[in-house]
Amino acid sequence: MVLWLGPDDTLYLPHWGASGGSVAEAYLPRVSPNRPSEAGFLDGQPLAYPAYGMSTFKEPCLVVQTEGGARGVRFEFVSDAIDGDSLELQFQDPLLHLQVTLRFRVYAVLDLVARSVLLRNLGSQTLLLERVLSAALPLPPDQYDALTLHGQWGREFTLHQQPLHPGRLTSGSTRGLSSHEAHPWFAVRPRGEQAEHHGRVWFGSLAWSGNWLLVFDGERNDALNIVIGMHPFDFSWRLGPNESFESPELVCGYSEAGIGGASRLLHRFEETHQLPANHRERPRPVLYNSWEATGFDVQVDQQVELARRAAAMGVELFVVDDGWFGARDHDRAGLGDWTVNLQKFPNGLRELIDEVHRLGMGFGIWVEPEMVNPDSELFRAHPDWAYHALDRTATLGRNQLVLNFARPAVREAIYSQLHAVLSEHGRVDFVKWDHNRAWTEVGWPEQPTQQREVWVRHVLGLYEVLGRLRAAFPHLLIESCAGGGGRADLGVLRWTDQVWTSDNTDAADRLTIQYGYSLAHSPRVMVNWVTDVPNAQTGRVAPLEFRFHVAMQGVLGIGGDIAEWSASDLASAAALVAQYKQLRPLVQHGRQYWLRPPAAIGPCGVQYVAEDGAATAVMLYQVRGLRGAGARRMRLRHLQAERGYRREADGVKSTGAALMAAGITADLVNTGDRHPTLDWRSSVQVWRAV
Ligand code: DGJ
Repeated sequence: MVLWLGPDDTLYLPHWGASGGSVAEAYLPRVSPNRPSEAGFLDGQPLAYPAYGMSTFKEPCLVVQTEGGARGVRFEFVSDAIDGDSLELQFQDPLLHLQVTLRFRVYAVLDLVARSVLLRNLGSQTLLLERVLSAALPLPPDQYDALTLHGQWGREFTLHQQPLHPGRLTSGSTRGLSSHEAHPWFAVRPRGEQAEHHGRVWFGSLAWSGNWLLVFDGERNDALNIVIGMHPFDFSWRLGPNESFESPELVCGYSEAGIGGASRLLHRFEETHQLPANHRERPRPVLYNSWEATGFDVQVDQQVELARRAAAMGVELFVVDDGWFGARDHDRAGLGDWTVNLQKFPNGLRELIDEVHRLGMGFGIWVEPEMVNPDSELFRAHPDWAYHALDRTATLGRNQLVLNFARPAVREAIYSQLHAVLSEHGRVDFVKWDHNRAWTEVGWPEQPTQQREVWVRHVLGLYEVLGRLRAAFPHLLIESCAGGGGRADLGVLRWTDQVWTSDNTDAADRLTIQYGYSLAHSPRVMVNWVTDVPNAQTGRVAPLEFRFHVAMQGVLGIGGDIAEWSASDLASAAALVAQYKQLRPLVQHGRQYWLRPPAAIGPCGVQYVAEDGAATAVMLYQVRGLRGAGARRMRLRHLQAERGYRREADGVKSTGAALMAAGITADLVNTGDRHPTLDWRSSVQVWRAV
């Protein structure tokens, strides 16, 4: 990444990509103005952080207004400082008395740079911040394709690729959370360079769990200006004298190993820098979650029975989902009252917790702390604690309202309830932190001056409460959930250890969802459950083994009603859990290569390989096959070419070179079964160097 300070103190970012030496001038683009009379305009130039007030029509990163109504920022360079791997460039606007510090944190081994901006008001007047994006990333004139992840509840992380044309293509969320609909991640590649394993890719992931905006700003000279950060929608922030405001980090990078190479850099970043340090390296336990089995009808005896069956299957963590607290017999009541429901647990939670621990498993519970049902003690006592517009009735979503986490009193009340639950019933090892409705009518009538700050203050408040819980209960693993993968961003992964990927547990749909998710996030933070058939969301019936093989791609969970499973299914499940535990170091701590992405018809495959290449697990799937189609070969990656390898299941031998050159046959078509079927085929094989 080359930065260049122009003679007028404009900061340029003329190059990010392949390394070719450090002479900045060599990279400077020759941009001639469209008309000689426009020589003073900066359009088409690769600006590192365009602000409203500079002579450009680009999508700006920064918009500031004074209380008197003056608008526009101009940068004067003040100083530069390098501290370890961080570069800070300080600018100032002497008229606004605004200090702007552009930060570049370099992760050299990972080819990543984390960018953010810090604003400080050095004057005596309050400044209104209307837009503070994290970074601009310019690319030189060319034809590009954009890759983004989109969806909705039950269909998160679908990969979309589209050509970028002149003009603006935007993505983002104004739903309060990073959202199911769009994920704060992007990749860009030159049109025509489209391989999984080859080709240049520029990419970024925003560490923010609230509203966000991404703009691909195609300039008139075919240059590209990408900007990303907190969404300016309904946002303004009063920055008083001496106050600071910091943007979230954008983690961005460049790879020449295609979209797969980009994904592995982001995985490593999460695994080595972003995830909470105390559990970063910890293998994520195989979990059981009771939601699809028992819904709200949670009872102590029935949970104990599920726990016994789960333990016999080899499960390591037993999680009671929704329904254990307050008057939570359905989704119309209880949220906000985080005390144990004594009809369901007459002796409190300790009875179940002790039994789960005695069975050798960790114990976890579900919570949804940012929400409240109108039918709850909390709401009856504090109706004003939920977002509401003055004199208007707030719209319910899933019969609930959103608590105003911008208010310190709300955070304190929720934190102390959670603290009590986590400390008064025995050791709780795990919390699933859910969030089941988007925010509407985000009003705080009692505090009009902070009204347009709530979107941001809420998210900062969420991080604060998560941080306090982590400090108070360092052993606790926390899972982020928002009706599935609605809040799965790099921001929340600083405070939580894993993510519930989607409420859609259909194994066929999951392949697409998990593929998209895995472009942005590590397998170590992707939780997948094996549930019952017919599938609750799609009615499809996939074989048990297929469901397990798909769920093995990240953190394995079981989410079916195992009280109803046959003895033979329970035995198969135990064997598959044992198999997963053998693979787990490769899946959770290895490198991931998609050998062939999921397709509607035909095989797909994914490989997890140890850092040193000495062992690999290959997972192959075919939801639907085409009669007569020949078996596809899948060439393995990242092995040691000169070494011999042995397939664990049958002792077949090969060499690293052969496995990488010729590959293995995805023999999912002609199975030799008595009743061969082309559909729902899967296999998992492990190869180890000998
Ligand atoms: C949505 C989650 O994604 C589900 O797994 C479950 O926890 C329900 N909420 C419970 O209400």
